[in-house]
Amino acid sequence: MNQVLLTIDGQRVLIPEGFTVAAAFSLSGQDICRYSVTQQPRAAFCGMGVCQECRVTINGQRRLACQTLCQSGMCIERGQNV
Ligand code: FES
Repeated sequence: MNQVLLTIDGQRVLIPEGFTVAAAFSLSGQDICRYSVTQQPRAAFCGMGVCQECRVTINGQRRLACQTLCQSGMCIERGQNV
């Protein structure tokens, strides 16, 4: 299986090609995507683009982790209140 190299919170990781960013988080053992306005950790919930709980910043743009396929060179930042 081919892999893509990307960065999650400054850490370089190899993820199997075809995985979503949310799946990459699960694979890394850190499901948290962001924090709520009350600083509660939030993670992917619906997995189909409805709940918006998986918002992250990818290459400076707000994206849904469950709807975004991993691509080589991506810079993903999470934990922000986005
Ligand atoms: S997990 Fe619900 S929109 Fe991504």
